[in-house]
Amino acid sequence: MRIFLDTANIDQIREAAKLGVISGVTTNPSLMSKVGRSDYREAVLEICSIVAGPISAEVLGQGPEEIIQEARGIASWAPNVVVKIPVTPAGLEAISVLAKEQVKVNMTLCFSVNQALLGALAGAAYVSPFVGRLDDAGHDGMGLVADIVDVYERYDFTTEVIAASIRHPLHCVAAAQAGAHIATVPYDVLMQMIDHPMTTAGVAKFIQDWERIAKA
Ligand code: G3P
Repeated sequence: MRIFLDTANIDQIREAAKLGVISGVTTNPSLMSKVGRSDYREAVLEICSIVAGPISAEVLGQGPEEIIQEARGIASWAPNVVVKIPVTPAGLEAISVLAKEQVKVNMTLCFSVNQALLGALAGAAYVSPFVGRLDDAGHDGMGLVADIVDVYERYDFTTEVIAASIRHPLHCVAAAQAGAHIATVPYDVLMQMIDHPMTTAGVAKFIQDWERIAKA
């Protein structure tokens, strides 16, 4: 399973990129708003200068033509930009047109196997089931990820599953076990994935023991 960073925070992206474990970034209008970036293109290009892999940027248009025009514009920003489009009738119509033009689409706000199936049929390169939001509503978010992976494998779809709306490190473990191709994680969760009290204690003990002999 690959790891994308789910943020528009440039400092966090720079720090995470140094670790060598991030192969992409996902953004959305809420994440841009959170860091006060009103120039979406400028922010995405800055992210592209840090991470070479797929960078998702979301459309705001509603109707199919509006989405298609906006998506073509976003896709032209940089070769690694992926266009995020919500699962709606207009979104699916747009995805099917854009897929024929080789525009890579990340179909977002996915909450059901049916939506994921339709996204794959329309030609989306990625589909993003929102695990945390489903859990918040009392549903089994990671169960949905596993179900989508099963259906895609059964029919040999090439659409990749991005476990999104990740809230804690156990979500990452479960996403990997469910066969998600990618988990897109907030920076704090990435740091939690690294952290273990026994590693911290072990490092402190090695240093303490070495200093004892070195000073003797
Ligand atoms: O990429 C968007 C998705 O991960 C949203 O997460 O935390 O707003 O449910 P959240």
